[in-house]
Amino acid sequence: MRRIGRRLGFQFGQASIGFGIKIFHWGSIVINTKAIIGNNFCVYPGVCIGRTVDGGVPKIGDNVTFFTNSGAYGGITIGNNVTVAPNAVVTHDIPDNCIVAGVPARIIKYKSINNENKSTCNSNLSAAVSSHTRK
Ligand SMILES: CC(C)(COP(=O)(O)OP(=O)(O)OC[C@H]1O[C@@H](n2cnc3c(N)ncnc32)[C@H](O)[C@@H]1OP(=O)(O)O)[C@@H](O)C(=O)NCCC(=O)NCCS
Repeated sequence: MRRIGRRLGFQFGQASIGFGIKIFHWGSIVINTKAIIGNNFCVYPGVCIGRTVDGGVPKIGDNVTFFTNSGAYGGITIGNNVTVAPNAVVTHDIPDNCIVAGVPARIIKYKSINNENKSTCNSNLSAAVSSHTRK
């Protein structure tokens, strides 16, 4: 995995990541080794899921998309079915079913219940409900 990451431009360490991850394009994706991420995670170039100086690392739910150059830092929790807009920096907890943007990231839209459990980058993905624990 480390070797593949070097070639393809990502570094995931021992992070716990569910099934169905999608990495779009090449380039510089860093996920802290203690991050816990659910199923159907979609990630674009320039994304960083990292820790803050106090050592906190994000927990991220199912069906979450991080668009280009966005990031999440610290011991925060991001819910299910969340889209993080390009260049957003998530520093606080985010509930289920919403789109966040800006620095610091704020909710710009709530997703309709019909879109629940659908990933932004692949609406055909099946609902993912299994809980995911660190290996
Ligand atoms: C994030 C995204 C899903 C939001 O789409 P949407 O739900 O249609 O939302 P809108 O575009 O209507 O934006 C809603 C508001 O948020 C703002 N907004 C959208 N993206 C933003 C961003 N990245 N940062 C700050 N504000 C943003 C819009 O300006 C708009 O503000 P307004 O209501 O004052 O006009 C969409 O912009 C997107 O898909 N972006 C991905 C682009 C990307 O990374 N492409 C690279 C692929 S390689």
